[in-house]
Amino acid sequence: MLHQATYKEHDEARQGENYTPFEMALNVNKKHFYIESYGCAMNFADSEVVASILVDNGYGSTSKIEAADIVFVNTCSIREKAEETIRKRLHTFSKLKKARPGLLVGVLGCMAERLKATLIEKEKLVDIVVGPDSYRSLPSLIEDAESGQKAVNVLLSRDETYADISPLRLNSNGVNAFVSIMRGCNNMCSFCVVPFTRGRERSRDADSILHECRDLFDTGYREVTLLGQNVDSYHWIPGTKGAGAVSFAMLLERVARIDPRLRVRFSTSHPKDITDDVLHTMVKYENICNYIHLPVQSGSSRILQLMNRTYSREWYVAKVDRIRELIPDCGLSTDMITGFCTETEEDHRQSLSLMEYCRYDLAYMYFYSERPGTLAERRFEDDIPPEVKKRRLQEIIDLHRIHSLESMQKDVGKTFKVLIEGHSKKSDADLFGRNDQNKVVVFPKGDHQKGEYVYIKVESCTSGTLIGKITTPSVKENLHFQHKAYLKQQQNIQ
Ligand code: SAM
Ligand code: SF4
Ligand code: F3S
Repeated sequence: MLHQATYKEHDEARQGENYTPFEMALNVNKKHFYIESYGCAMNFADSEVVASILVDNGYGSTSKIEAADIVFVNTCSIREKAEETIRKRLHTFSKLKKARPGLLVGVLGCMAERLKATLIEKEKLVDIVVGPDSYRSLPSLIEDAESGQKAVNVLLSRDETYADISPLRLNSNGVNAFVSIMRGCNNMCSFCVVPFTRGRERSRDADSILHECRDLFDTGYREVTLLGQNVDSYHWIPGTKGAGAVSFAMLLERVARIDPRLRVRFSTSHPKDITDDVLHTMVKYENICNYIHLPVQSGSSRILQLMNRTYSREWYVAKVDRIRELIPDCGLSTDMITGFCTETEEDHRQSLSLMEYCRYDLAYMYFYSERPGTLAERRFEDDIPPEVKKRRLQEIIDLHRIHSLESMQKDVGKTFKVLIEGHSKKSDADLFGRNDQNKVVVFPKGDHQKGEYVYIKVESCTSGTLIGKITTPSVKENLHFQHKAYLKQQQNIQ
């Protein structure tokens, strides 16, 4: 459900979404695959790489399980609950296999990497297991599985970025696209399984990123979201060492320069790495959206240290202050974990008070889920009872609700530039899009269509949506937009 969803790094509404670029003629392709995706935006982007590899090798895609010869599940291991949901799904597919001998089931992504061959050997649940860095071997693994051999490849790579593969856009609205700019993570936050399932951090060739973004613009896309677990540590060295290294700020600038009509977003920023250069680049280009996802995880410096986040509460607050100093209207979102090992009521109160300070527009909130093999699992006891973790989570959620509603209410009366993404879920007479700060805006459609920019004057709001009407900006508002554009133009010249 891409429709009318605020961009989310880990979007609950999209879990289990099945994808198809277009229904392929069933008699043309040798075999058909069905693919279901879970987890973060990077996993959804990977499914598009997988689809591209399979289609290039003569397979066709289908959105109907009944028409599929191979069923793939692109999986997530981030929390126990995520794995449980997927496991249930695998059992359903395993039953389907009994009814339809010859059907192959494959596990892709982070759970494949974490559990490796046990899914085939011990649990006998699936036929193919492929980790995130081994998708190029999918066609040969399918052939192995068809001939009854064990089909497993979970090798992690130090340099695979799939840079040369043009992702097959799946279920796309033709307006926004995800573009992976790096893979893996070197950060080793103690609670997190990602460094183990996705391997070492590596940056993708900047030229291939620019090429992909330009292609997207030329085919009508109007927004790209540059993806990585830690985009601020993007670092690509072309050819010879040292000369001409490309930082994230430089990459952002190059993508923004493709065309002023192409909006640019990015996710995720790490508080220890986001630089003034990135913030200045955001200020400089009108088409780089004023929105930053800056996960904090906890408001207590003691817990942040145990989490190995490598910043303190004070460092984080200073970053937020700097963002607001340079980009006063910047949308800000976060991730927060409650009930991490040894978290006291005082630590929890610090998380609440940090939220009071930051007043996030959007927050993704979780209770701590111990993951096998992580630093926290090896070093600390998971000692906070589930009911305490959940009560603290509820307090965080309740507080955030107040802040997010306030954030919506303060936009009533303002005018925003909105990129139209499609029809509103509730009425065909309405369109929806998002403003710079990533808020969903709904308005009567007039004679406009998706992919266009319009100015919307907000008249009311719900907790998740701004509601308004198309407007021609007033002289004052126009001056405001012109002034912003003028300032940015001046900065571009300098
Ligand atoms: N790389 C990003 C970062 O550093 O913020 C996000 C990584 S992760 C895919 C998304 C979020 O899941 C994290 O920010 C964290 O809040 C949450 N998360 C990760 N491991 C978790 C765990 N073991 N239990 C609960 N939440 C977890
Ligand atoms: Fe996990 Fe930390 Fe890396 Fe994010 S930065 S993916 S939380 S290890
Ligand atoms: Fe993403 Fe889940 Fe893997 S959040 S990186 S799919 S563990």
